[in-house]
Amino acid sequence: MKLSTYSPSNIEEIKQLFTKTFSDSEGQSEGLLIGNLAYDLMTSTDGHDFYVFVATENEQIIGSIIFSRLTFESEVDAFLLGPVAIHTSYQGKGIGQKLINFGLNTLKENGVELAFTYGDPKFYSKVGFSLVAEKLVKAPLKLTYLEGWLGQSLVSDEIEPITGHSYCVEAINKPEYW
Ligand SMILES: CC(C)(COP(=O)(O)OP(=O)(O)OC[C@H]1O[C@@H](n2cnc3c(N)ncnc32)[C@H](O)[C@@H]1OP(=O)(O)O)[C@@H](O)C(=O)NCCC(=O)NCCS
Repeated sequence: MKLSTYSPSNIEEIKQLFTKTFSDSEGQSEGLLIGNLAYDLMTSTDGHDFYVFVATENEQIIGSIIFSRLTFESEVDAFLLGPVAIHTSYQGKGIGQKLINFGLNTLKENGVELAFTYGDPKFYSKVGFSLVAEKLVKAPLKLTYLEGWLGQSLVSDEIEPITGHSYCVEAINKPEYW
């Protein structure tokens, strides 16, 4: 299994991976929604504002994660992790955690200070995320599950409070993803 940064020639294969994985776990309409989200993030976001990482086995992409920029009124270099997918037949083998750690290390090497995500704390706590109270750091949209707003500092032990609003990139700036 190889971990790497994506190549733009992988966009269609990555979209299919997200569509298939989320169709398997949450039904076809969720699969289409998340496949389209992944595609939009990769095709409509400025190159400085997103990272995509892939896990590859026998030249097939079996996992992918996308980070996109989260902007605050104060100057802080922050990214939002999501969506995340490991091909159904490769789940539960540690690949998701390895790929996320690989991505977080690459972001850190590039000077990123904070990473956030919105998801299941049981899984994301295994890769360093913990609950973020919205009074300390606001999510960009209204959250359906307050307990899913998670973050970690890549430069110190904890996240300092950040005043003001946060803004995500356009592709994920839709209530249905939150
Ligand atoms: C969630 C997902 C990314 C995890 O990747 P993975 O490679 O299967 O996970 P790993 O093998 O690295 O880690 C497994 C651990 O995470 C936990 N875990 C796995 N999937 C989980 C899930 N959906 N929710 C909560 N915990 C989960 C397992 O309990 C396991 O912990 P354990 O070893 O203590 O039992 C993957 O299963 C997946 O793509 N699922 C479908 C799509 C999805 O839900 N994506 C995340 C939301 S954006």
